[in-house]
Amino acid sequence: MILGVETSCDDTCAAVVSRAGEICSNVVASQGLLHERYGGVVPEIASRRHLEVVGPVIEDALERARASLDDVGSVAVTDGPGLIGALLVGLSTAKAIAAARRLPLVAVDHLHAHAVASTLGPDPIEPPFLVLVASGGHTFLARVEEPSSHVKIGGTLDDAAGEAFDKGARLLGLGYPGGPAIDQLAREGDPAAFDFPRSLPGTGLDFSFSGLKTALLYAVRGLGERGAHGRRADLAASYQRAIVDALLMRARKALTRERIGRLALGGGVAANSELRRRAGDLCGELGCALWCPDASLCTDNAAMVAGAARFLEPLPYPDYLALDAFARAA
Ligand code: KG4
Ligand code: ZN
Repeated sequence: MILGVETSCDDTCAAVVSRAGEICSNVVASQGLLHERYGGVVPEIASRRHLEVVGPVIEDALERARASLDDVGSVAVTDGPGLIGALLVGLSTAKAIAAARRLPLVAVDHLHAHAVASTLGPDPIEPPFLVLVASGGHTFLARVEEPSSHVKIGGTLDDAAGEAFDKGARLLGLGYPGGPAIDQLAREGDPAAFDFPRSLPGTGLDFSFSGLKTALLYAVRGLGERGAHGRRADLAASYQRAIVDALLMRARKALTRERIGRLALGGGVAANSELRRRAGDLCGELGCALWCPDASLCTDNAAMVAGAARFLEPLPYPDYLALDAFARAA
């Protein structure tokens, strides 16, 4: 068994995954309510909360897997990118558990874990495949030739797609995190009501979401506070449509250009109902197969971290004791 630990942002996560990729438990203690009143994650509060709950969350993950530390053969942990203080809580905890039992430790890149989340479960994706990772901090397209690495072929030049959802939600007076709130509200709105810009022109595979956010700001200002409130559902639906269009335009281009018949989604935005549905339509049209992991494997979780560790080289005791966390992707 692999014990996974993930604390890169505001969720304290632990999971137990078998070498074969079976998810035995996947526990997430969300801090959403703690940060809601600030309208975003407060790093210092996130670190303190991780410190309080990481022990019980790991115990819970073992208990739900009906396992004990005796069953654990290696410990996997996210070492970055993310909030440095938050990452250090998970990394130190994982080192302590591994060192006490002289177990090997696997350091996992958070973005790679999102990229290969579809290799878990009863119907794992097999490389080569293309992956669209859209999260709160990152948005990119990558080629996966082997499950130990991914090669980026396009990425965002400014905001991440999740950031666009979160900032849009704030402009619409919805709570944090904004993605699920917009997803919900958009169901009652008309996606053609407002014409928002669709990302960058041109032939590349990069994304840009900052212009879209500004367009929403102007639309809200133009309608006035009460007018915007009355049309919140239409604004949400049109805004979501523009984000999903931008993501899928690039995914379509990548699938055609790279001549790969498999697409996987990953990252918190991959939990979005419109993105999932329309990615299915796109793949149907292009004759590609689509892997949309369960929403619990799209938003931050430790099963994807333990899952990715299956393909990576473990560090033996005591080599990992000097390992450091990193805030930004290299
Ligand atoms: O991958 P993730 O859990 O954390 C990061 O690594 O950033 O992604 C979080 C992001 C947030 O921006 C959140 O608003 C967005 O994923 N998100 C969604 C949905 N659920 C979460 N965005 C759109 N629709 C959703 N249903
Ligand atoms: Zn993430």
